[in-house]
This record gives sequence, structure tokens and C-alpha cells, in this order.
Amino acid sequence: MSLKDRIRDEIARHGPMPFERFMELALYHPDGGFFGSGSLKSDKAGDFLTSPEVSPLFGETLAVHVARERSRIGDPFSVVEVGAGSGSLLRPLLEKVEVPAMAVEVSPAARAALGSAPGEITVADEMPSSIRGVVIANELVDNLPMALAQRSGGGWRERRVGSDQDDLVFIDFEPRPEVSAWLADFAGDVPDGGWVEAQLAATAWLARVVDELQAGSVVIIDYGDTTEGLLPRRADGTLRTYRAHHLGPHPLDEPGKTDITADVNFSALAAVAESHGARVELQRQDDFLSDLGLRHRLSELREAALSAARDGDVMSQLRIKSTGTEAETLLHPRGLGDFRVLVATV
Ligand SMILES: C[S@@+](CC[C@H](N)C(=O)[O-])C[C@H]1O[C@@H](n2cnc3c(N)ncnc32)[C@H](O)[C@@H]1O
Repeated sequence: MSLKDRIRDEIARHGPMPFERFMELALYHPDGGFFGSGSLKSDKAGDFLTSPEVSPLFGETLAVHVARERSRIGDPFSVVEVGAGSGSLLRPLLEKVEVPAMAVEVSPAARAALGSAPGEITVADEMPSSIRGVVIANELVDNLPMALAQRSGGGWRERRVGSDQDDLVFIDFEPRPEVSAWLADFAGDVPDGGWVEAQLAATAWLARVVDELQAGSVVIIDYGDTTEGLLPRRADGTLRTYRAHHLGPHPLDEPGKTDITADVNFSALAAVAESHGARVELQRQDDFLSDLGLRHRLSELREAALSAARDGDVMSQLRIKSTGTEAETLLHPRGLGDFRVLVATV
């Protein structure tokens, strides 16, 4: 049975499903889900390119944060990366700082890639229950299942997924109480007709991580903005799909065949982390990486490229320039540098 038929079958038995449930099946079902089955999606050959896949400089730079946290809280200490993908963040990080590391992944293909890597990475499919150290999540939260709602007549309508003959279609309902509560807390002043992705799984996930963190910090890196910053994007909402590094089809058209994602509401994450006792700092990725030394490293690379050119060492010059270009990509103010980084410290 195809994943689409499986979804239609569940709708026939239980009625239209919340978008969260659709997203859970489309992304994580073991038989046909985008991450739940098939090949690794987060490497260069996959459907999107993330900061750690752009350059090992990303993991190396995050190692500075990890080393600082280790000096601050001492041992026992470990790094836990949730949604670790191919391991392209953890591996260079562990070359710079020697700490026990765990990669948490729900994707079997990613777990296989992580398990085959040399080194000391423990691979798991669930978060450990008590953590002292640093938890990192790069482009995880935008993939956690979310509900969809539209502002309507001063209230809200929740968009569910139903079926119409062979097609999956959106059908609007009264919002569930948990969706109404999330919207009241975090949606902000959305004009009539505006769309909001209610990121209930993201806020629940962060609340749990902060509760499990005995000492240390959680670092969440993703595209998105504050509630205020997202307001101009509310007319059409931010839900979208990706395939082969480009925007993909309508989210309901090909479940399991595309990534489904939306901009992360960082105000919601910050509020939840604070209400669970963490101290929160929110920065842009370019500022965060610069504070950890990446802009300084870029200046050094530019100097080194000039010096290699003066020495007539063309191969070194090209290699250094290419590393410099990777650093520039991570810091680009309208690209990856515009991502947000939330650090919640306990
Ligand atoms: C967009 S990819 C990012 C991979 C990697 N962090 C990177 O930046 O290249 C999101 C990853 O999160 C994983 N994932 C989603 N939900 C998860 C969860 N609840 N626990 C652990 N991993 C999860 C997916 O399987 C996928 O590999």
C-alpha cells in the first residue's frame, strides 16, 4: 500500500486528520515516510543543504561553545545532537573537543550513516533521560509535526487533511483546545486570513529537553524568527516543501516524497524554555558564529590565501580560498547567516 493510500485509509476510518498527524506520517512513517524510509536526505546528494553539510567549519566553530560549557560546568559532560543526520556536525566538533557524544536520530538511513562513522559516537533513536552538557539541534525543529490554523473573523479555524476521491484536501474545523491555547500564547497579532503553523511538537520537545538538562545548554539553530518578525510572512503562511534543493510541490500532493517544513517561531521556543527555568539568548547565525570566532578565522584564511599567492603556491591558495568561501556561506547575511540560534542555558 502506498503512503498516500495509507493516509486515505486512516482518514476513512477516523475522519480528517490534524496536519500534525499528516506530517508525522509523511515524514516519519517507516514504510514510505520521507525521513522514515529510503536513503539519507540531509547530505549533498539529498534534498536540502544544511550548514554542517556546507562545511566542517560549522561543527568546529560550535566546538568552541561546547568547550566553554565544559569549562563552566565540568564533568560529567557530554554532547547530544538531536536530528544528527549524516554526522557532519558532530564529527568535526569531536575533532576539536574530546567529549562523549550521542547522536539521536529517528531516520534509519541517518542512523546507519552515523553508526558506520569511525569514532566515539553513540547512536540512539531517543533522547537520554538526564543530560549534563550541550544539546544541539540543527534544522530539527522545523521538521517536527505542526498544526495549521487560519485567522478568521477574530477567531481561528484549524486546517485538517481529508480526502476527496483520489486526492488529499484541506478541510477547516474548529481548532482543538491545545491548538487554540498555542495560538493564544504565541501566534501574535495575525490579520484576518493569515496562516500560522502551530508548532506544538517543537515547544513540547524543548520543554522536555530543558527539564532533562541537569546543567549546560540547548542550542537550536534553524530558519525562522520571532512572532513579530514572522508577521509579514503570515498572509500565505510559511509551510513549504523541498525536493532536490528546490521548493517542491504542494504539501498534500506527494506525501513521503518531499521534505515538509515551516519557519520556526523562536518566541514560542524562548517562552517555553524560560518558563521551564532556562536563561535564553536569541541571535542570528552570523552573529553567533562570529562570537565563537568564525569571522576571525575567515580573516586568517584570507591572509593565508594572500600569503600562498605571494609564494606562488597555487594549490594551497585554491584550498584555502575554498575553505574561506565555506565560511562566507555560513555567515552570509541573507542566507545561512540569517538563521536564528536560540541558546537556552541551565
Ligand atoms: C533537516 S534534517 C537535518 C539533519 C542535520 N541536523 C543537518 O543539519 O544536516 C532533520 C533530521 O532530524 C531528524 N529528526 C526528526 N525528528 C526527530 C526526532 N524527534 N528525534 C531525532 N531526530 C529527528 C530527521 O530524521 C532528519 O535526519
